[in-house]
Amino acid sequence: MALYIARMCLVFVVLLLLCVTEAVDRSNFKTCEQSSFCKRQRELKPGQSPYRVLLDTLELSDSRMTLQLINDNNKVRLLLELYRLQGNMTRVKINELKPLKPRYEVRDVLIADPPTEPLLVVTQDKNGLVLSLGQDEQRLIVSARPFRLDILKGPRVLLSLNSRGLLAFEHLRPCKDTISHKITSTFGGMWESIKSLFSSKHDDNTEEVEETETSKKASDKEDQTANEEEDKPGMWDETFKSHSDSKPNGPSSISLDFSFPDVEHVYGIPEHADTLRLKNTHGGDPYRLYNLDVFQYELNNPMALYGSVPVLISHNAQRTMGIFWLNAAETWVDVGSRTAGEGSTPQTDVRWISETGIIDVFIMLGPKPTDVFTQYASLTGTQAFPPLSTLGYHQCRWNYNDQEDVKTVDQGFDEHDIPYDFIWLDIEHADGKRYFTWDPQKFPQPREMLQGLMDKRRKMVTIVDPHIKVDADYKIHSEIRSKDLYVKNKDGADYEGWCWPGSSGYPDFTNPEMRTWWASRFAFDKYEGSMENLYTWNDMNEPSVFNGPEVTMHKDAQHGSWEHRDVHNLYGLYVQMATAEGLIQRSGGTERPFVLTRAFFAGSQRYGAVWTGDNAAEWGHLKMSIPMCLSLGLVGISFCGADVGGFFKHPSTELLVRWYQAGAYQSFFRGHAHLDTPRREPWLFGPENTALIREAIRQRYTLLPYWYQLLYSAHRTGQPVMRPLWVEYPEDPVTFGIENEYLIGKDLLVHPVTDEGAKSVTAYLPGKDEVWFDVHTFQKHEGGQNLYIPVSMSSIPVFQRGGSIITRKDRMRRSSSCMENDPYTLYVALSPQGTAEGELYIDDFHTFNFEKQKQFIHMLLQFSDNTLSSRNLALGSNFTTEAWIEKVIIMGAVQPSSVFLKTTDGVRVAVEFDFDSDTSVLTLRKPGMNAGAEWTVFLQYHQDTPKHNSPEHQTL
Ligand code: NOJ
Repeated sequence: MALYIARMCLVFVVLLLLCVTEAVDRSNFKTCEQSSFCKRQRELKPGQSPYRVLLDTLELSDSRMTLQLINDNNKVRLLLELYRLQGNMTRVKINELKPLKPRYEVRDVLIADPPTEPLLVVTQDKNGLVLSLGQDEQRLIVSARPFRLDILKGPRVLLSLNSRGLLAFEHLRPCKDTISHKITSTFGGMWESIKSLFSSKHDDNTEEVEETETSKKASDKEDQTANEEEDKPGMWDETFKSHSDSKPNGPSSISLDFSFPDVEHVYGIPEHADTLRLKNTHGGDPYRLYNLDVFQYELNNPMALYGSVPVLISHNAQRTMGIFWLNAAETWVDVGSRTAGEGSTPQTDVRWISETGIIDVFIMLGPKPTDVFTQYASLTGTQAFPPLSTLGYHQCRWNYNDQEDVKTVDQGFDEHDIPYDFIWLDIEHADGKRYFTWDPQKFPQPREMLQGLMDKRRKMVTIVDPHIKVDADYKIHSEIRSKDLYVKNKDGADYEGWCWPGSSGYPDFTNPEMRTWWASRFAFDKYEGSMENLYTWNDMNEPSVFNGPEVTMHKDAQHGSWEHRDVHNLYGLYVQMATAEGLIQRSGGTERPFVLTRAFFAGSQRYGAVWTGDNAAEWGHLKMSIPMCLSLGLVGISFCGADVGGFFKHPSTELLVRWYQAGAYQSFFRGHAHLDTPRREPWLFGPENTALIREAIRQRYTLLPYWYQLLYSAHRTGQPVMRPLWVEYPEDPVTFGIENEYLIGKDLLVHPVTDEGAKSVTAYLPGKDEVWFDVHTFQKHEGGQNLYIPVSMSSIPVFQRGGSIITRKDRMRRSSSCMENDPYTLYVALSPQGTAEGELYIDDFHTFNFEKQKQFIHMLLQFSDNTLSSRNLALGSNFTTEAWIEKVIIMGAVQPSSVFLKTTDGVRVAVEFDFDSDTSVLTLRKPGMNAGAEWTVFLQYHQDTPKHNSPEHQTL
């Protein structure tokens, strides 16, 4: 009992701290200096690489080249593997040639063994060798002394590895001190001979290698000079605050440097609350990748956050490239960019440091941004294609208190005529934080509640966290325990940590058996009270352990034969993977799942959506939501959003309205708030603000067809949905640092208002030869300029690119599901050449039939020569829709004399139209084509009438 009370007190104290602290407590989280491997690695100075290639160990098969490297200081050999991969990528793997025990290699992230292409040695001499990378005169040079790799195109170096000599591979070794200590105390003087046994076993690392003449010489030399490095603090155990990390395997960290000549801009390696463009880390900490539950995170900071994607993207006007560092251990990334004009050419140097595992790096050679996205998608897969409804608005708070509350909030949306699709229940809905259950007092009839929502074609999400209350009467716990599927502590007992429910076990999601069992829990008969319109939220899956080191799991906890240290950054991915699988299985494989996760890794895009965690109701956090989601999009995670309104604190009304306006234009759109904050449903701030929020949400709903098509395209191709401007305008340096505006797809530019009291914003409209149309006024603006835009509280500056066709649904209803068969309006924005193009994608909006049975409609919409046409892109697919085209709005048009529609069966019908000469907008009324049909609309002009409203024609 006393123990129980003590534990409850601890929980209370933790909760209290969570509620009163104002900003992140940095002392809870390590700096590089406090992380012993980071410190050791960072102490190495460039230009002193001890590694040399043993050229006579070269082995070359069709697609794989191997070479041994030797560290001249300690004589330990490494095995270098090089692969040329299909799609213009190179893979470089480095491991110990003969590690004392296997080192962890990441699983379940690559979607397949990447297909290879033949590697050809072009030349070889005593200095190294040159390999052809096939494409575009690309070559890879392996220099022997010191070891270095350079990738060139013609005479230009694109990228170098180990050019600064920071390759460092801490080989596994027996622990001298522990063994010495244990054995001397037991066997006294016998120790010396035992020690020599160990060292000769270790030296096998070199001696067992089949030696040719040169490598024999090398190994003779090795025997004379072999010299094990001194142990340094933190190599065999490490203490942080009150936590000690026993390190049974000793030091095992790895590091490698990369240099990009002519590059000043690098991006990626989320998640950080920092600028889109990565900053120099000299003089501060490197960017840290270690999934952590950081309470009240700070902005403009390289500290680790909830998720990690070890992908960095380099960009200059000529080329975009990427580095994918496939390692799931704690990782630090140093960045140093030098700009032109500091007496030298630009260059960016990057250095990756990981605590354990191997070096396994994919170099994506672009050359265009789209190529890098395609390359990365070919490795780790694409964004899961979500059900349409999940692109609507989500209403969440911690917590909606009971069924009555849910009903009232749901009705509130109807009363205020605001569409929404999902209402969310946080941890208080479950019985004592026992996930998969319902609080019997507050939610006694979950099915009734879900049915009520279903009747209105709305849905719900409940939270299912991965910490499981240790309670013998809780079935989920007792079954995991009896199946022995919990993570273990270093002594082999079930690992226990503190989280919301008190003492909790952590399922070992790295184990496929655990994932299968977890997935089975989502079956309708297992998750009692659940129904088809209930979806899932995985939170705290870093994993968060309130009483663990840095609020996470001890690194020496065990996942089968691996340490938590090896797999830490993968835990959250596995949780979401198992949950998504559960939602698929419960419908017999028919329905597309929706799972929101807080922790993530490379590949998480395959399982659902991500949000940026516990932000705050501050203007800075609103601003930061843009680069945070853009960074995620660059590395494949396109379904991203931030808590609208800010999680902690109470937003001013102005901030709340601005946040809705910005959030409506981010992929995942959810209002959420902390337990202690006052209620903030959209209608609680006076009728004027309700109207502003309603309008923002409505704008989101009108654009759902466009969002849906972009998510479909992200799923098919890996191209991001929210895009930094440089992705579409890669040659325009003005775009390289922009992060206060972005593109949705390639055709909509959004510059949300994110400053308090703003009276104006200045938006950069890219593309010197382009024009942009204000979507609200249809006013046309030239590209390649900074546009001053006066704003009021109702302004959301959004522009449509001239040359595009965007599909919308302009009729508002309760939810996206109610709008499924509603008619479409085509917004045609003409280019200066009088052309435009877009796509329309339609399916049943929620199943896998689009993939399994090709049941979808995909139309190419084109405008040129005064003719608008719809052509089928989905040959062989079989899907029909009731939806039709109710209106076509053509921006930048000239008034025609007549308009007629021709269907494929040759029928010709006149189409009614209006022309507004002030705005040059032509509106075709009720042309009436079926949205899935092929058709052509002709604009007819009297002879000599200009064909479109190009600048030259206007002057005629
Ligand atoms: C932390 C999450 O980030 C937050 O969104 C949630 O409301 C709380 N956990 C409670 O579940």
